[in-house]
Amino acid sequence: MFDTVIFDLDGTLSDNSEGIIASIRHALTALGKPMPGPDEIRSFIGPPLRMSFQRRCGLNDEESIEALRLYRERHETVGYLENNLYPGIRALLTGLRRRGVVLAVATGKPPRITKRILEHFGILNLFDEVECAEPMAVDNEKAILIGRILARHPGNAVMVGDTEDDIVGAEKAGIAGIHVQYGFGGDWRPDGKYVSVPDVEALSRELLGEVPAPKGVFISLEGLDGCGKTTVARHLDELMRQYGYPVIHTREPGGCPISENIRSLLLSTEHGEMTATAEALLYAASRYQHAHDVILPAVKRGCAVICDRYVDSSLAYQGEGRQLGKDAIRAYNARAMELCMPDITVYLRLDAETSLIRRLSESVPDRIEQEKRDFFERAMSGFDRIAAEEPDRYLTIDASQPVGAVISELTARLPEYLVKRGIWA
Ligand code: TYD
Repeated sequence: MFDTVIFDLDGTLSDNSEGIIASIRHALTALGKPMPGPDEIRSFIGPPLRMSFQRRCGLNDEESIEALRLYRERHETVGYLENNLYPGIRALLTGLRRRGVVLAVATGKPPRITKRILEHFGILNLFDEVECAEPMAVDNEKAILIGRILARHPGNAVMVGDTEDDIVGAEKAGIAGIHVQYGFGGDWRPDGKYVSVPDVEALSRELLGEVPAPKGVFISLEGLDGCGKTTVARHLDELMRQYGYPVIHTREPGGCPISENIRSLLLSTEHGEMTATAEALLYAASRYQHAHDVILPAVKRGCAVICDRYVDSSLAYQGEGRQLGKDAIRAYNARAMELCMPDITVYLRLDAETSLIRRLSESVPDRIEQEKRDFFERAMSGFDRIAAEEPDRYLTIDASQPVGAVISELTARLPEYLVKRGIWA
């Protein structure tokens, strides 16, 4: 096996095509240059950009410098986050790290942006070395970057990359190379001396001799009605995909056929006579089926499960709102809680007054939403109590802020919770 594994970034660790292509388009449009077709633009990804602007769009020296500046203007503000870690990469890096392998990145990207991307994915701390090309490079510098890493780590090394540049770089530096076919290398394949793998699974087998078990994560969203869970869930979905997880977005009550039927029973305004205990038991029954059929299997497969509400809603609404007490609710939900509990709960904290105002704008309130203000005041203190008791699990955000601020706060704080809860290495 190898002592040092050097990864290319774009097209090997992450799929950043969306952000790159949009930023190339931005540069060419601003310069008033003709737009290459989609396949032509895709082939910009990998080699030094200035070279592609010159060779593929006929830009002269000066224009290519300006194109690069315009490209960076967009890419370094928004484009670099239009980017997804390939599923399986996180588990591969962690697996290599656990075996004491030196991990390095060798990329044509500038250092500041490279570190920001690795930080965004929460993987910067897994790398011993990050080597980046000089800002205005036109030639392939992979061999130089590899050489710098080898000078500090002289063991048996391999370069992993998706383009010819990566494999030529490995050859020039005199080390092994593994080509990955899932990136931006198109139909190019290395000659027989080099291994070429179709996907991250095959790459893991080459590097580790096995495919590491992926680690899933269960994230619940809680808060009073009208707290903005739906919008935040959509953003969380996007974020977790960027972090390399397949995502399942589900809800309670509901989330699977049996539980969706229980949901209809629970929320129908025709069931005004339902006792508080029957209500709590129905929520618990719905939850157990959903946890058993959907949540647990998905977490075991390595997915990020994002669930609108889980047991904390019962503790707050039935335990406090209906005043059944938390012991009764815990007892009713013991089986579901044994199956799974959220790793992280995003609590969108909203007061009862604001919740009421937001709910009034809903066209048809369901049976629970028809409750009076004191019910929601008790439910809110229920959520607050759990947040105070479990600060490591609870990521509390003030949901009375504008939704953009809520989303920025979530994006900034989520990685800390993923580390704290042992999801990320
Ligand atoms: P829903 O339309 O999904 O509301 P929201 O978008 O606010 O989640 O309806 C779910 C309702 O059920 C909501 O008012 C909260 C309530 N509820 C409980 O009372 N106890 C529970 O355990 C759960 C999961 C939900």
